[in-house]
Amino acid sequence: MVVLREAGEVRLHGSDGALSPDELREAVRDADAVVSMLHDRIDGSVADAAGPGLRVVANVAVGYDNIDVPALAARGVTVTNTPGVLTDATADLAFGLLLAVTRRIGEGERLLRAREPWSFHLGFMLGAGLQGKTLGIVGLGQIGQAVARRARAFGMRIVYSGRSRARPEVESELRAERVPFPELLRASDVVSLHCPLTPQTRHLIDAEALGAMKPSAYLVNTTRGPVVDETALADALVRHEIAGAGLDVFEKEPDVEPRLLELDNVVLTPHLGSATVETRTEMALLAARNVAAVLAGEPAVNEVRPGGGTS
Ligand code: DGY
Repeated sequence: MVVLREAGEVRLHGSDGALSPDELREAVRDADAVVSMLHDRIDGSVADAAGPGLRVVANVAVGYDNIDVPALAARGVTVTNTPGVLTDATADLAFGLLLAVTRRIGEGERLLRAREPWSFHLGFMLGAGLQGKTLGIVGLGQIGQAVARRARAFGMRIVYSGRSRARPEVESELRAERVPFPELLRASDVVSLHCPLTPQTRHLIDAEALGAMKPSAYLVNTTRGPVVDETALADALVRHEIAGAGLDVFEKEPDVEPRLLELDNVVLTPHLGSATVETRTEMALLAARNVAAVLAGEPAVNEVRPGGGTS
């Protein structure tokens, strides 16, 4: 906040929840800079509501699917995001979900809290071990790599798919093999999603993709909800076409497909990937620095290019 206050007058809106599109357009009126959250849809109409003085939209997130970058670029507005600072926190949460769902941690906790009778025996609440299993990473960017590093420490083999090939030193450090997406689905014991949400990745995990996974496989999603067709996922889980899922993100946040809430083989968290004190502080600071830089006529720290990618 200090960085922003030094850059100009600060107006706070929506600190207790998402703004409606009308509230958002009203909130940005006459702004030179907008600091947006991932639930704020920033398109040309919002930029027009801000007026011709708008110079920068600083998203406090690495993902920027909520922003129409070309529409803003056409109006001369710089868009920025916060890559890097949330890599480890998000990878930790992804791996936490992976462990929780494969080892039935949530289910075991619910059993105890429900004061259900139980006793230790050899077949009690068995989960799936990870050692020697294959983790399929969709999108081996910074977060995907950080998840792969954690998985290597657990003795997992890494395969990945994605738009671009990782650098040879990354592939060799992680012993990661790039495979076509259909092969990743067939081969993986856990599929973890780390691709951005784009028109190409919307519903990447649909009924067909779920049908291609092993019945013993798990799905982990910490990227964006719409990468998964949530209805198809619930169908697949109900029919035991896959073994379970760990989900931090949802198609229509804050709503969750009701059937997912009833299933014991699903672990759910409310978009907590970057939710540590340290990480959220870094994200806020980076967004503020982006605003200050652009308003000072300097290059942004992390500019999102209209064709995708960051500086
Ligand atoms: C991001 O940064 O894109 C996350 O989803 C929010 O932590």
